[in-house]
Amino acid sequence: MSQDAMEKRVLDAVRQRRQLVNEAVDEDLPMAEPDRLYEATRYIIEAGGKRLRPTIALLVAESLADLEPFSVDYRSFPSLDDWEFDLLRAAVSVEVIQSFTLIHDDIMDQDDLRRGVPAVHVEYDTETAILAGDTLYSKAFEMISDTGANPANEVDAMHLLASTCTRICEGQSLDVAYENRTDVGPEEYLEMVRLKTAVLFGASAAIPANLMGADDEVVEGLHQYGTDVGRAFQIQDDLLDLTTPSEQLGKQRGSDLVEGKETMVTLHARQQGVDVDNLVDADTPEEVTETAIEEAVGVLEEVGSIEFARSRAQELAEQGRSGLEVLPDNEPRALLDDLAEYLIARNY
Ligand code: IPE
Ligand code: IPE
Ligand code: MG
Ligand code: MG
Ligand code: MG
Repeated sequence: MSQDAMEKRVLDAVRQRRQLVNEAVDEDLPMAEPDRLYEATRYIIEAGGKRLRPTIALLVAESLADLEPFSVDYRSFPSLDDWEFDLLRAAVSVEVIQSFTLIHDDIMDQDDLRRGVPAVHVEYDTETAILAGDTLYSKAFEMISDTGANPANEVDAMHLLASTCTRICEGQSLDVAYENRTDVGPEEYLEMVRLKTAVLFGASAAIPANLMGADDEVVEGLHQYGTDVGRAFQIQDDLLDLTTPSEQLGKQRGSDLVEGKETMVTLHARQQGVDVDNLVDADTPEEVTETAIEEAVGVLEEVGSIEFARSRAQELAEQGRSGLEVLPDNEPRALLDDLAEYLIARNY
């Protein structure tokens, strides 16, 4: 299959599932009082988002159940041990965690644009943003503990979601700490990224297997798929921050350079002798011009840092695919395989 055909197939699969997830969020995250708090939680969700993580969760469940896509009610999904459970609610819980992390991440990264609209702390205020993030965080656990799955399986899924959130905080803490370091190596970077980003992909793939009562070996294979493709995904996110206009990205281009983030690109550039900390001259992400970023990217390209990061992402995506061997050979598995490639080929 050509690259274009592959991309179209993946995008169609994501679009169909995004639709289901969006309808489910509407039902599972209703408006409540105080208005301002709940409006802020809905604001971030309704702003958009690709819904990649819940899509992975749905595809894994479809593959494990070996069903024709859309042939069953996702709200009472058949598990391997005959308990029907609400698969959509589980998928939504992962997306709700994702949205919580974005609200808090934008406060930490001082980013004003998210999903193409002003960040929650800008549209509302920092107090509301902190609380909206916290509310989404706890809502996710209300959801994952109310799927109707076999209780032992549900506890496994809850435990995985909780430990994932702990890891995300650890990763975000390292991400901030690395702003003040110039000697971060590739292994340290990859570990930081595993924690802040990849484990949520791992959980998205493994939670449906937990809820369905799959064997440990299956859960582990799927978690490995998620953490490998999740690290590849974050490298691509770092590349897009450099190469893609803000309007297309829905977030501020060049933000990482201004904030002094250490990425696979910058750590390679430092090794080549580039003065990374002075590549752009701006104090806030909003101040940096497209021309300044273009020039910085020119330097990074010249010393091979962009290419270096791309190859690392390619290797990790490839490695991630091997985790899918624990799934039956069917259409949803093929889509998860293609999704690994799409995560590093995407341009938004
Ligand atoms: C952004 O994730 C946060 C990172 C881990 C880089 P996405 O690019 O998946 O953001 P949305 O959910 O589509 O907005
Ligand atoms: C985000 O990393 C990781 C989490 C949100 C936990 P980034 O800071 O690179 O994400 P973006 O680029 O702001 O989406
Ligand atoms: Mg950020
Ligand atoms: Mg960040
Ligand atoms: Mg980023």
